[in-house]
Amino acid sequence: MNNKTNKEKIIAEINKKWKDRCKCELKKTATQAVFGNGNPDAEIVFIGEAPGKNEDEQGIPFVGAAGKFLNEMLEEIKMKREDVYITNIVKYRPPNNRDPEPKEKDDCREWLHEELNLINPKLIVFLGRHSMNDFFPTERISEIHGKLLIKKFVNISCNHFFALYHPAAALYNGSMRETLMQDFKKLPKVLEKIKDQN
Ligand code: URA
Repeated sequence: MNNKTNKEKIIAEINKKWKDRCKCELKKTATQAVFGNGNPDAEIVFIGEAPGKNEDEQGIPFVGAAGKFLNEMLEEIKMKREDVYITNIVKYRPPNNRDPEPKEKDDCREWLHEELNLINPKLIVFLGRHSMNDFFPTERISEIHGKLLIKKFVNISCNHFFALYHPAAALYNGSMRETLMQDFKKLPKVLEKIKDQN
């Protein structure tokens, strides 16, 4: 079995384990768990907030309007979804797409950390302030978006981070959309810089 196939198998096991074990109350109202999706050998992992209606129905992250926008930005930097890995802080849809509550994030955190450490990307990209604040609770996305952040966490193997505005928030806001697209275009160079350091 090659390394990629083996990692796919382990991710499936992690998801199966946490689907049973996760105490998140959102399980009661969501249709299903929305697992991370993409290349288990990805150099970049994107972390969103929580599944929305389309994601809840299809069981795949970022498949609605925000996901379409994300795909377009990936294309701009000559990448496809199959090249990256996309997941969420919270694996179940909050009712009416409300913000996930602290307890719901806490209950899904170990699941997220386990998948991140298996993939072991070179760079973790936050999609929006919720995922950014989960790692950098005192920062403001308006101040740190588009900048490479380096921080060593005891329980996460990756120590390079980059925050973006959430595609859903930027979709219908002209200036935020422009900022997001400009920040997104920095990703290939940011990745090269990280690889040069290693
Ligand atoms: N927004 C998110 O944060 N995650 C999704 O999966 C879809 C929309």
